Amino acid sequence: MPELSVVIVATDNEQRTVLQVLVDGTSVARTVHTSASFPVAASDPVARRLQAAHPDVLLVDIPSDNPGMAMHAIEFLHRDLPDTAVFAIGSLNQPQVIVNAMRAGAREFIERPTTTTDLLEAFVRLTTAQRRVDKQGPRGKVFCIVNAKGGSGATTVAVNLALALQAAHGQTALVDLAPLGHDSLHLNVKPHFTVADATRNLHRMDSSLLESFMTRHNGGLQLLAGTNAPAALEPSTAEFVRLFDMLVTHYRYVVVDNSSRLDAASRLVANLSETVLLVACTDVASLWSAARVHQYLGESGARERVRLVLNRFRKVPGFSEADAENAAGAKLLWRVPNQYFAVSSAIDRGVPLMEQSHTEIARCFSGLAHELTRNDIDVKRATWSLFKTV
Ligand SMILES: Nc1ncnc2c1ncn2[C@@H]1O[C@H](COP(=O)(O)OP(=O)(O)OP(=O)(O)O)[C@@H](O)[C@H]1O
Ligand SMILES: [Mg+2]
Repeated sequence: MPELSVVIVATDNEQRTVLQVLVDGTSVARTVHTSASFPVAASDPVARRLQAAHPDVLLVDIPSDNPGMAMHAIEFLHRDLPDTAVFAIGSLNQPQVIVNAMRAGAREFIERPTTTTDLLEAFVRLTTAQRRVDKQGPRGKVFCIVNAKGGSGATTVAVNLALALQAAHGQTALVDLAPLGHDSLHLNVKPHFTVADATRNLHRMDSSLLESFMTRHNGGLQLLAGTNAPAALEPSTAEFVRLFDMLVTHYRYVVVDNSSRLDAASRLVANLSETVLLVACTDVASLWSAARVHQYLGESGARERVRLVLNRFRKVPGFSEADAENAAGAKLLWRVPNQYFAVSSAIDRGVPLMEQSHTEIARCFSGLAHELTRNDIDVKRATWSLFKTV
């Protein structure tokens, strides 16, 4: 592994010194410059010194009491030094800071207090990823499916949307984050591993390990199965971010079945998603719940990405789609027809609706997949905005 050159930006003198000792202690990287202040514009002397150092890695320490300046610096440095990987260092107790740092362009978020091992692992990941970059091309898109209310049909939508994306484009993964995972039952597969195994092994995750945790459905869809016991799965924000970073590196589309899970993890995944599909039915309780769930997800920044999917849709006299949109507070994306017999027997037999081609409901999910990927087909596929690659 060639030696990486590192610049450290930390306003705290002690932290700057500690980081320098840790970086040099990894023996795969060397500190070439340190800065006690954040650059604000390309023309300021601090920025010019950073540009002149031309580092492989910039470590930016985010002060807990004032993350704003550091966030601005990360965004600016990511833009100004496109060949440099920005690593943010901060507290894991501030999930929003982690998400904001990644959105601003940080490639890694490393916990403070930091250890030599943390830095070493991050440097190795960077070097490995850079070796793969040419082969891999752009990163995938995440679509997450959330219920307005238990039983609204999130799993049915997630499973069939994933199958439709796989059929149309290939390279699709389905990730079951439901409190109790049903996706493997819908697909009639028997997983050996679940998402809990993947998150437990994140520290040593690479592409072959990730693949070994996936269960293949005939036709090629890869399932990261859900838990089969309602045990609390509580990976940290940084672990979730890393898992999804791996997933979007490997798959063109990642469909997440959140079902009725509403916690920090579901909010984070909503934040990482291109579009959040909020599944509701056209009854008052469901639409009321949709508005509450929309608000809950919106508090962490996903508001504008939430779209309504009306399941078990049938025309109700005196009730328009605009009424549903107003009640849920989200724009309508799609309608799935009410077909109780077809849907429930598909689940019971483990033969998903998408495998019953030429039916109205299978065409409905193909149409949804087409709608979500409309801009991806002929234009260069947009990269996922959260992880701006170096
Ligand atoms: N379009 C539909 N038409 C008729 N019935 C449907 C439709 N979609 C789902 N259902 C019925 O609703 C039930 C719940 O579906 P599903 O398991 O997909 O919901 P869910 O929202 O994921 O549930 P949970 O809250 O348990 O995660 C199923 O048993 C199915 O029969
Ligand atoms: Mg479900």
